[in-house]
Amino acid sequence: MASWSLYFLVEILRCASLLCLLCLDDMACVVYGAQEITLPVTSLFPSPICKASTSNANSTLKLVHKNSPCSPLFNGEPVNHTQLLLEDIARVKWIRSKISGASAANSLKDSAVSITAKYGAGGGSYLATIGLGTPKKDLTLLFDTGSALTWTQCEPCAVSCYSQAEPIFDPSQSSSYANISCSAPSCTQLPSGTARPSRCSGSTCVYATGYGDQESFTVGFFATETLTLSSTDAITSFEFGCGQNNGGRFKGFAGLFGLARDWISFLEQSATKYGRYFSYCLPPSTSSTGYLTFGMGSMTSASASFTPISMVSQSSLFYGIDITGISVGGKPLSIPSTVFSNVGSVIDSGTTVTQLPPTAYSALRSAFRQAMSNYRMSAPASPFDTCYDLSGSTMVTVPVITFSFRGPIDVQLDPSGVLFPVTQSQMCLAFSSTGDETAFGIYGNIQQRSFEVVYDVPGGRIGFRAKGCS
Ligand SMILES: *[C@@H]1O[C@H](CO)[C@@H](O)[C@H](O)[C@H]1NC(C)=O
Ligand SMILES: *[C@@H]1O[C@H](CO)[C@@H](O)[C@H](O)[C@H]1NC(C)=O
Ligand SMILES: *[C@@H]1O[C@H](CO)[C@@H](O)[C@H](O)[C@H]1NC(C)=O
Repeated sequence: MASWSLYFLVEILRCASLLCLLCLDDMACVVYGAQEITLPVTSLFPSPICKASTSNANSTLKLVHKNSPCSPLFNGEPVNHTQLLLEDIARVKWIRSKISGASAANSLKDSAVSITAKYGAGGGSYLATIGLGTPKKDLTLLFDTGSALTWTQCEPCAVSCYSQAEPIFDPSQSSSYANISCSAPSCTQLPSGTARPSRCSGSTCVYATGYGDQESFTVGFFATETLTLSSTDAITSFEFGCGQNNGGRFKGFAGLFGLARDWISFLEQSATKYGRYFSYCLPPSTSSTGYLTFGMGSMTSASASFTPISMVSQSSLFYGIDITGISVGGKPLSIPSTVFSNVGSVIDSGTTVTQLPPTAYSALRSAFRQAMSNYRMSAPASPFDTCYDLSGSTMVTVPVITFSFRGPIDVQLDPSGVLFPVTQSQMCLAFSSTGDETAFGIYGNIQQRSFEVVYDVPGGRIGFRAKGCS
């Protein structure tokens, strides 16, 4: 403790002339300089113990990482970066197929593509527990801004259900369940959100949708139910998928909670109540919790910086954002602005690692490596190629990375959005390249950590508020 105090004293003196903020919060103490951040190496590793935060807002759900000790479904496994790579490849391939048409998905230049069939895109990394039915049953769903339909596995699992941690939802035990008829307008409009034609079973509407290379899928009855967020907030007659044939890499989760831009999304179905506003904070570490909250009332958008939502060609499902530049250690990288503007980017809750055009990624990587030249590089840990062995260090100093978006706004990433812990001593630069200058970028969930990300859909803008989880 004595050496720590000394350390901080030195730090305070060293950066007294810079913009410095000292947050003396046990081990998570961080020193912010203008161009670099110094923090304890241990603060970058998730703890095996859950530090859950609580919320008293009525329209708020807790968000937890799927590998979090705070998850009701935690199985003790840490985040596996190989698994993460495979899931991201499947996810990106799926998003590309939606944006550019199926043929473009095949242009993904990665030798690992051939094995992605085994790793469905799933739906991302963060979980929220909702209530469904009357009386309500709690179901833990993957939260996904990239897909529209909310669905859960349903009894009697007429064809097949995978195993999930919570009891499978049984519509016969709920007084508020109703099938949607084939002739209902919502049945005929369904394909805009599922990308598959709807069908009939008797007079009941049947939906189908797939993720990744069709390995992850769900087919079932399109139905209405009461969806409960909290003791005071519920959406009645919420249209959802009651899955009778489900498969793929959903790993114990009861289904998916869809927030993409489509009429079938929770966003639209709750529009009269919440006005198409939502925000979330992904926790800086898997050992803490974040939140997903709906409606403008519960937002602190006044202190957020906003960038316009841009249109993504051929798919209105995704939330497009325009990256205009990146700086490392306060110095803007010399990346021609056309590198970003020619292709565009989407912000996604389900892709883990931000994917940049190759020109942008290599500029970021070389500036980062230069700033980190005091540290010993270690072997790459795919998908990461810039990794450091920090086993001899108690503190690490990393350059500040700032993303600029159309607005213009500058978003200074949290350290948890820059370094990814691979092992107890190995840290990697948490970005990757799309591998193709013509492929659009994806602003992934690691880089969103610790910000409140505000989706003001009627205002056509997305905002970022630093230190947004508390
Ligand atoms: C939650 O809803 C109840 C009943 O409508 C209301 O009295 C209370 O103020 C709400 N709480 C919050 C934090 O909005
Ligand atoms: C990580 O995931 C990969 C791919 O699923 C698997 O082959 C490997 O055994 C996993 N590693 C650990 C340590 O669980
Ligand atoms: C919903 O439709 C399916 C298929 O037609 C039928 O088996 C089931 O009993 C219906 N459920 C209700 C509650 O109407």
